[in-house]
Amino acid sequence: MFSSPALITALALATAASAFAVNANPLYVEEAPDHLRPYVIQHYKNSHAVTIDTQLYRFMVTGPSSENAFTLLATNAPGSGSLGVLPHIHRRHYENFFNYKGRFQLWVQKDNGEQQARVLSPGDYGAVVPNTTHTFQITDPDTELLGVIVPGGFEDLFYALGTNFTSGTDTPYVPSKSNGSSSAGPDPGMIASLQEFDVYAQLNFTERRDLVNGSAPSSATWHSSTNALGEVGEPYFVANGYGPKYLNSLHGYQIVQPLVTPKQAQSLEYSMSTISINAAKPNVTVPTYTLEGAAAFEVLEGLLTVQIGDYEEATLSSGDVAFIPPAVPFKYWSDIAFTKVLFIGAGTNSIDTQLIAGGKSWDYVTFPTQ
Ligand SMILES: *[C@@H]1O[C@H](CO)[C@@H](O)[C@H](O)[C@H]1NC(C)=O
Ligand SMILES: *[C@@H]1O[C@H](CO)[C@@H](O)[C@H](O)[C@H]1NC(C)=O
Ligand SMILES: *[C@@H]1O[C@H](CO)[C@@H](O)[C@H](O)[C@H]1NC(C)=O
Ligand SMILES: *[C@@H]1O[C@H](CO)[C@@H](O)[C@H](O)[C@H]1NC(C)=O
Ligand SMILES: *[C@@H]1O[C@H](CO)[C@@H](O)[C@H](O)[C@H]1NC(C)=O
Ligand SMILES: *[C@@H]1O[C@H](CO)[C@@H](O)[C@H](O)[C@H]1NC(C)=O
Repeated sequence: MFSSPALITALALATAASAFAVNANPLYVEEAPDHLRPYVIQHYKNSHAVTIDTQLYRFMVTGPSSENAFTLLATNAPGSGSLGVLPHIHRRHYENFFNYKGRFQLWVQKDNGEQQARVLSPGDYGAVVPNTTHTFQITDPDTELLGVIVPGGFEDLFYALGTNFTSGTDTPYVPSKSNGSSSAGPDPGMIASLQEFDVYAQLNFTERRDLVNGSAPSSATWHSSTNALGEVGEPYFVANGYGPKYLNSLHGYQIVQPLVTPKQAQSLEYSMSTISINAAKPNVTVPTYTLEGAAAFEVLEGLLTVQIGDYEEATLSSGDVAFIPPAVPFKYWSDIAFTKVLFIGAGTNSIDTQLIAGGKSWDYVTFPTQ
């Protein structure tokens, strides 16, 4: 067989490269690894998918993959005429509801406070701090709800309740009608058995239905004026673009819109923000970060390129997730004009917190013109 010297060299280099490839583990995975390591998981990859009636859950970051820093899951489902889960409380877990696409309603009530309800459209966010009674209902056909739950490991509940799902098409959810047996999740008898998963049923909670312009009470500020983040221990909502904003100009422009800062997280010590990034300029060096806590990016819009540890660059599009363990150096940038990500960082000084500290308050969701 004829082999040119060039081909031999190419083969030798390829062999050397694969021997060098970090731990020989591919960066791209089909489901979250069972131990801490860098990875990228693309939108709709199986991710240990389970169905609970018409809802399909995927788990992009898990307790084992993050050493219990946080869980990141996605729920895809058709609209439903009833609640997606019976009202309940988590005593230890802080649950974040972020609308990736479509529409859903979220209800929250803390202690004797007034019950709050909102219709969430894409980019809208609701904070369910521990000990908040909550429930939700998916109302549009093409809906994807992102859940960030701290600390990690909460996915065990869904593994226990759900049915493993595989698909030859990676369809977002199964095109079928609810069979009516469990449109609100487990029945009252079963939900009472879920306390080992930090789920405490609140069966005397009745969801209010008097929403006006997407909100109850109608006097609440919703898609009409600014939303502040919540006081410590209180649930809150932030409409897309109406929350606090910061502009960081150190390495190109980044607009950070915090959803949870270390102040709201308290002893759970994490932060969560959207970050909008403009195209990296050729003459600017993108910084390398090495963080004390785990971190994850999920692309909401545009294309994010990450370079983690010794892995090759990876370019992520909408719905793709990159996970970075603590102490692994990495960088990220956008090669296109506008990329927006959801960022989750463990610890009290993650990237979003650093960008806010090095930036300034900013009134807009867009970058300056120069
Ligand atoms: C109806 O839903 C329940 C609970 O998810 C499931 O166990 C059952 O298999 C479903 N039945 C049909 C016909 O889809
Ligand atoms: C939630 O309430 C329970 C008692 O109902 C309490 O033990 C627990 O500390 C509370 N959790 C938080 C985070 O305050
Ligand atoms: C569901 O999938 C998980 C992960 O692949 C596996 O460990 C588990 O045994 C499966 N459960 C069933 C009932 O097949
Ligand atoms: C509702 O039920 C929970 C337990 O399920 C109980 O702790 C709470 O006090 C009840 N609230 C009211 C207003 O009855
Ligand atoms: C609902 O929105 C409409 C259109 O913006 C506005 O005219 C109306 O006052 C709002 N209703 C309430 C109760 O805020
Ligand atoms: C990079 O180039 C732009 C013009 O393309 C210039 O405005 C900017 O000052 C340069 N930045 C640095 C750090 O040299």
